[in-house]
Amino acid sequence: MDELRDKYIDAIANASDEAALEALRVQAVGKKGEVSLKMRELGKMTPEERQVAGPALNALKTEINAALAARKASLADAALEERLKTEWLDVTLPSRGRRIGTIHPVSQVTEEVTAIFADMGFSVAEGPQIDSDWYNFDALNIPGHHPARAEMDTFYMHRAEGDNRPPHVLRTHTSPVQIRHMEKHGAPCRIIAPGRVYRADYDQTHTPMFHQVEGLALDRDISMANLKWVLEAFFSAFFGTSVKTRFRASHFPFVEPGAEVDIQCSFEGGTVKVGEGDDWLEVLGSGMVHPSVLRAGGVDPDTYQGFAFGMGIDRIAMLKYGIPDLRAFFESDLRWLKHYGFSALEVPTLHGGL
Ligand code: PHE
Repeated sequence: MDELRDKYIDAIANASDEAALEALRVQAVGKKGEVSLKMRELGKMTPEERQVAGPALNALKTEINAALAARKASLADAALEERLKTEWLDVTLPSRGRRIGTIHPVSQVTEEVTAIFADMGFSVAEGPQIDSDWYNFDALNIPGHHPARAEMDTFYMHRAEGDNRPPHVLRTHTSPVQIRHMEKHGAPCRIIAPGRVYRADYDQTHTPMFHQVEGLALDRDISMANLKWVLEAFFSAFFGTSVKTRFRASHFPFVEPGAEVDIQCSFEGGTVKVGEGDDWLEVLGSGMVHPSVLRAGGVDPDTYQGFAFGMGIDRIAMLKYGIPDLRAFFESDLRWLKHYGFSALEVPTLHGGL
């Protein structure tokens, strides 16, 4: 038994890896291992012999098992040491720079517009970008044969043959939100509705998708004078300087009377400056809501009246931040976004400045 002990305890302590250790285990205490075979011989011994050999064999087996476990642990430790030596990490190295995204000028300006109108008591309404032609046209007093439909360069949604749902369009303006809001909330109301609109048009100042903000104020005594005051107050807050407006009589089927509104500006040295000079730049369409439109929205035109306007968000963003080409807004060029974008922490508020 001492022989067995000498043979295995040493070999185990020197086993070079897990495989060698396992081979030793099988050889010593496996089912047919040397120690196990010796234990089987106990049966052939006399009771006296067995009394001495039994406990001694058990003790040897326990000792071998303990040696196996100890060597296994030390091999694992050594392996870990080895890995730590090769997989080390220099935590004092400077980290890789993180790229920080920016807020798109359209998002920033939408926030600015919202903050200014919110201060004047307007809340924000929304409508779908895919709308029926009833909301986009008919309810706004633009019947099927009206030339305004053709002028709008409308994108129509595809309809399979036999599909007789009403025709749907990508909304060509935010004006359908007027109808949806009136249907749901009636009058009086003061809302703005910013969002995407679509027209088949593409050049330096037109993209097939662009942004508008609609305004609608209804009450018993709202007049054109309120419209003019609200717009001048808006532009002065938005551009941070007093801005004159010019109303030019114009026609939109959903207002009567209707006006296009220009803001005062100067074109000098190739740059536009708003709020000074003798030139004018068109920025929106507006007017007093047509009685047929009020009726389509379920509002009684004998009790209520009000104004509406629709303004190009991209247009006023270009003016305020000196951005020359509208198409760049939607090209997702990271260099452009970095240059014209805003820090996520520059949340526009009236008190913080716009
Ligand atoms: N919807 C018009 C357009 O897109 C703008 C407008 C809105 C005009 C409200 C008058 C009143 O051109």
